[in-house]
Amino acid sequence: MSIPEELQKILKSAREVVALTGAGISAESGIPTFRGADGLWSKLSPEELASFDAFLRNPQLVSEWYEHRRKIARESKPNQAHIALVEMERIFPSFTVVTQNIDNLHKRAGSMKVAELHGNIERNYCLGCGKHYDGEDFDRNRNFKCPECGGLIRPDIVWFGEMLPVDQWAMAEEAVQRAEVIFVVGTSSVVYPAAELPMTVRRNGGKIVEVNIEETPLSNIADFSFKGSASRVLTEITDQTKELRGFAKDTE
Ligand code: OAD
Repeated sequence: MSIPEELQKILKSAREVVALTGAGISAESGIPTFRGADGLWSKLSPEELASFDAFLRNPQLVSEWYEHRRKIARESKPNQAHIALVEMERIFPSFTVVTQNIDNLHKRAGSMKVAELHGNIERNYCLGCGKHYDGEDFDRNRNFKCPECGGLIRPDIVWFGEMLPVDQWAMAEEAVQRAEVIFVVGTSSVVYPAAELPMTVRRNGGKIVEVNIEETPLSNIADFSFKGSASRVLTEITDQTKELRGFAKDTE
């Protein structure tokens, strides 16, 4: 795969770059996506598992579902696509990952600047007193009640109908305001407000580069659309960008 010349020019000199990622970037690590024939939402109902009402109705069921997903995430490893984004942090003077994923794989891969729009499965907090519990504390405390105050402990993730964490959204907004390029990787681009972010880049004169194995509503809008797996396409983009920017082999 060779990068179109117009994109090469941009990547050669870009200083401010963002990657917006979704479940597809972790698919090759073995973590199920949400939509599509094999997606989680084809078998399970978001209303029963991913809303605050669902949690209050059946905290045990919802907590166990997240415990199960935490186990899958922990047993998975970051793949070449996550690693390519760590490389991009070295390549571009300013680089931010904005993720909709809760699986913690960007941080585990080594990305430093990550806005987690939908929370992180390793964090939990008590609805009663606000005390935070990491994933391991939570797994030890199988009755899902806060040892301090007896309140219910919930995962620190965003459920349907909930606000995004203000600080993470602010970080994402700031990054897209300045971005010359946004890579939109492995997301169906149908969940808002995350799906708005590429439009902000566009409005400010930046370019949208989509990486996905399928067409999405963004494909026709994007300036460049690469059809292929995140690991393959991002590795090729980072390798070629390093060459364009004269990253010597011995400094790698
Ligand atoms: P989806 O499951 O909706 O979409 C995954 C996207 O990844 C699809 O467009 C796939 O074509 C693409 N894909 C799959 N494998 C890929 C690969 N190897 N390389 C590149 N692309 C690949 O997941 P999201 O868009 O992330 O929200 O979903 C957004 C939000 O909806 C999630 O964060 C979650 C969900 O409900 C909450 O839980 C709040």
